[in-house]
Amino acid sequence: MSVSALVEPPLEVGARTFPRSQTLTDGFGRTLTYLRVSLTERCQMRCGYCTPTGRVMRGARDEDLRTIEINRLLATFRALGIRHVRFTGGEPLLHPHLTDHIAEARALGFSRISLTTNGDLLARKAQALAAAGLHDANVSVDSLDPARFRDITGGGDLGRVLAGLEAARRVLGRVKMNTVLLCTRNLGELPRLVAFALAHNYDIRFIETMPLGAAGAAAVAFDFVAAEVARAMIAERYRLRPLPSAPDAGPARRYAVEGSTIEIGFISPLSQAFCETCNRLRLTSRGRLVYCLGRSEGLDLRAALDQGLAPDELSSLIRTHVARDKPRGHGFTPEGRAVPVRMMAVGG
Ligand code: 5AD
Ligand code: SF4
Repeated sequence: MSVSALVEPPLEVGARTFPRSQTLTDGFGRTLTYLRVSLTERCQMRCGYCTPTGRVMRGARDEDLRTIEINRLLATFRALGIRHVRFTGGEPLLHPHLTDHIAEARALGFSRISLTTNGDLLARKAQALAAAGLHDANVSVDSLDPARFRDITGGGDLGRVLAGLEAARRVLGRVKMNTVLLCTRNLGELPRLVAFALAHNYDIRFIETMPLGAAGAAAVAFDFVAAEVARAMIAERYRLRPLPSAPDAGPARRYAVEGSTIEIGFISPLSQAFCETCNRLRLTSRGRLVYCLGRSEGLDLRAALDQGLAPDELSSLIRTHVARDKPRGHGFTPEGRAVPVRMMAVGG
């Protein structure tokens, strides 16, 4: 086979041609294949670990990237070798053009298109999202008790979220519950959450709190539980079989549950760093490329678009900055300071 047969042709989008470069790599030899795109900072919920108490962080819609900007950036990252894109927020279902962006990502040839949502609007929209090309969805469910759920999320309606979860499972086949581990709030509920996931055939992932912004730091200080504690509690009742880490499986330690087809995952950014195999970048809804959850610095891609950079100039700007600026790791520690990153801006 000739070498040229191995090189993919340039990506044509509208009148523009996006040259395919080699892969996008950082200064530590990691290849970036996964981009998380926050479409908006707005959210109708106010989870304590995400939103500072008493403040309703909505963010203004006119600060969000415009459709044309998102599409240009999606094409640029696709041409740079990103294969997996996840739309997140804030709450991505509040974005008026989420379905169009999913369809655009499919047209650009992303091999996996994912969504992270609070689930509140999912029941109505799941069908259209799947039809546009969505492959999988993660839905945040921190409690199965309606009053506690309302309390943790600052007003969320558990019934609506569970209806959304089930609607998504029907059309997508597989969905995942995301549960943030909160020592004083939901630790006692872990067996019930797992039993629920098993009964409905949902995958479930338990996530340690992270010190993102003041709200995250307070959650770490008052409510931190190591994922290993959760795993041990669950292992008392269910037989867990460790699954090998897959190339694109992300940072979760995954287990199969004997007698079921579901998967339980544990994400432990604090107690067991997972940065060595990091393959991800984040784009904020205001157009900043963020290299790591633990760092607030980033590259202003909206400004780069405003300057009218040609596709190859934009690609090379991104390549240079990623190679130079993506840090080795997030550096979170349980007793450490709050990282000046707002979860609503970078989307988990
Ligand atoms: N620590 C851990 N997880 C968080 N999430 C939001 N803020 C934090 C935090 N400080 C979770 C949400 C959602 C995903 C996007 O990230 O619950 O599941
Ligand atoms: Fe909204 Fe998600 Fe933050 Fe909760 S964690 S307030 S659902 S963005």
